[in-house]
Amino acid sequence: MIIKKKLKNPIFCIVAMNENRIIGDGKNLLWHLPGDLKRLKKMTMGCPLIMGRKTWESIGRPLPGRANIVLTNSISWRASGAIVVNSFENAITKADEWIDLNMEINENVIQKKIFLFGGAEIYKIGLEYCDNIEMTKVKFNSKTGIQFPKLNEKDWEKTKLEHNFATNDVPEHSYWHYRRIV
Ligand SMILES: NC(=O)c1ccc[n+]([C@@H]2O[C@H](COP(=O)([O-])OP(=O)(O)OC[C@H]3O[C@@H](n4cnc5c(N)ncnc54)[C@H](OP(=O)(O)O)[C@@H]3O)[C@@H](O)[C@H]2O)c1
Repeated sequence: MIIKKKLKNPIFCIVAMNENRIIGDGKNLLWHLPGDLKRLKKMTMGCPLIMGRKTWESIGRPLPGRANIVLTNSISWRASGAIVVNSFENAITKADEWIDLNMEINENVIQKKIFLFGGAEIYKIGLEYCDNIEMTKVKFNSKTGIQFPKLNEKDWEKTKLEHNFATNDVPEHSYWHYRRIV
């Protein structure tokens, strides 16, 4: 059990998953959803992102306009554009510091929220700090891969925001907001 009042800035989880909670194959996503990527960019711009080293490697570059905070157990791992941390608590500290510093520079472009950006190992550690999940549900037939942790369904109020039917290249998907109610 964590003490949420200790959080200076709220942490929002953002994730895309299929019916079996699969989020990727370990290296990449399994689908390409251009609309979802645009939405993710808009939602996360001006925020710190907390991600695992494997998710960082899968993206392959820092996402601009955001702090790219990368968790690794290695004390020597470095990457240009990554803020490297060795614990989740330190990731939160770095995220809060980044928000404070950048609010001073340009408060109009900074949002006072942090995103839990994945992958599964980082969701597993960070979900308990989140009262909100921005979830994309993708209709994609796969039972194997990296899996999002199982949520206790009754702990969350779920609102469907938008539904997108499949087109030639893009699978059916919908956007949901989950809000923690307990
Ligand atoms: N669909 C989505 O929304 C979404 C979002 C993000 C990622 N993904 C997918 O998820 C997959 C990657 O997920 P993943 O679970 O395999 O890896 P991950 O969570 O991205 O990264 C795991 C790495 O994080 C580091 N780490 C984990 N816990 C740590 C701790 N307590 N302290 C310090 N470092 C820690 C370790 O790095 P070291 O090995 O360097 O020690 C570990 O190997 C990819 O397929 C990616 O495409 C999907």
